[in-house]
Amino acid sequence: MNHLLTIGDYSPEKLQQMLDVSTLLHKTPEQVLASKNIAFIFEKPSLRTKVGTEAAINHLGGNVIHVESDLVLSSGKAVPFSCRESLKDAMKNISLWCDAVFARVYSHQTLQKMAEYGSIPIINALCDDHHPMQALADLYTLQQTFGTDKKLTISFVGDANNVAFSLTEIALKFGHTVHFSAPDKYGWPDDILSYFALLAVDHNGSFKTFDDPLDAAFNADAVYTDTFISMGEEHLYEDKIKHFEPFQVNEKLFSQADSNAAFMHCLPAHRGVEVTDHVIDHPNSLVYKQAENRMVVSKGVFATLLTEEAKEFKTNGVHTPPLKGEEVR
Ligand code: CP
Ligand code: NVA
Repeated sequence: MNHLLTIGDYSPEKLQQMLDVSTLLHKTPEQVLASKNIAFIFEKPSLRTKVGTEAAINHLGGNVIHVESDLVLSSGKAVPFSCRESLKDAMKNISLWCDAVFARVYSHQTLQKMAEYGSIPIINALCDDHHPMQALADLYTLQQTFGTDKKLTISFVGDANNVAFSLTEIALKFGHTVHFSAPDKYGWPDDILSYFALLAVDHNGSFKTFDDPLDAAFNADAVYTDTFISMGEEHLYEDKIKHFEPFQVNEKLFSQADSNAAFMHCLPAHRGVEVTDHVIDHPNSLVYKQAENRMVVSKGVFATLLTEEAKEFKTNGVHTPPLKGEEVR
């Protein structure tokens, strides 16, 4: 089954194919999702992922059905009879009517269970551990900005979260260098550090952690940050905000990076917390490009995973196009 649960499940070649199909279908939309029904199940809020992906599906002739998340995911609740039905029954039903599920959930295990019980592709719209759709759009944005050949140094300064994880996976798989800096308490555990080290070796990438965020940003081609407090972590606010204060991406930190360096953030951003106005509004900030590319890349992902036609798309010679009116850096 063509699920997209993590970036780790896919080869760089298949990921690049999704990006190339995105370019093709964005330039020349075809009705490849006509008569496909995609169930959107969102346990957490979303702007970009929900609207950008629904817009993409509309452009390709598909149809989105918004399913109240409690109808499907209430089975984890402890209170007796608060559970409407089991996830198993809900997924077996949705599979009778729909062609895929696009789900944003807390636990990654929920997505794995959806995949186990259902008989249609499950596409991860973000969970606590992964954000593969964001990572694909981020790689696409980097390719637009710097070309597809250049090996980049991407500095992630901030929380060891879902966005950082999927970004690191995709960057290493494409042979880039990732510099990471977070407070000790909120950095990667040893098993994940070992996984990144192996991924780097396998794909000629490089992964390094830094205690000092200024060192992590030094000479970087792109500096990336995300919220310090992810959805579901609101109870950690007091502690995290204190530990992360020195990790704000501000003028001083950004000036450590290459003079042409890009700033990236998946959004939503907390201006004045993880990033200052100076940096997010900098001419080299790619944040709105990233957001725009969420829609572009959704086209390639859904077409590739859901249609036989995708196998026939001739993507030879199609490259991620450079930003309009700009030379690649
Ligand atoms: N970047 C991102 O996933 O944004 P939303 O939470 O608004 O979908
Ligand atoms: N790390 C953030 C990403 C939001 C798109 C969160 O999980 O809330």
